[in-house]
Amino acid sequence: MSEQLFISGQTKKEKYVELLPQIYALTKTESSWIANLANTSAALKETFGFFWVGFYLVSENQLVLGPFQGPIACTRISIGKGVCGTSWEQKKAILVSDVEQFPGHIACSSLSKSEVVIPLMKENEVIGVLDVDSDQLNDFDEVDVKYLSELCTWLVSLH
Ligand code: SME
Repeated sequence: MSEQLFISGQTKKEKYVELLPQIYALTKTESSWIANLANTSAALKETFGFFWVGFYLVSENQLVLGPFQGPIACTRISIGKGVCGTSWEQKKAILVSDVEQFPGHIACSSLSKSEVVIPLMKENEVIGVLDVDSDQLNDFDEVDVKYLSELCTWLVSLH
């Protein structure tokens, strides 16, 4: 696998369909999970230009900031807090079209307008979350949930 992405698709779905196999190829022979999360963050940022994309990992009963791309972010999130902590508590993906309408949203940046969070589930426990933020309202939909969930399933299989 060359360390370069090739994306020619125009639509979001086409881009995911091209990107995911390239992330799988890039990560499958690397034994460092953190390195794989780091490259996954970079690949998502490079392909979609997301405002913020990265991982929070469960450690000492909190979500602790992991590999990411974007502006500096809050480092620790408790269960049930914000979108990430809610995804952890409910063990499900959460789409937020307008973060100001989400009770308890944690504003790491006032520029963040919409968000999608996918839990990393291993043996029915959440071991972390993938958080993607946009500086546009209503920027995510079920296409993002579908492909980002597939990606998270893959990443957990490497854990
Ligand atoms: N907005 C998130 C916190 C993480 S930052 O956006 C990177 C939340 O409410 O959980």
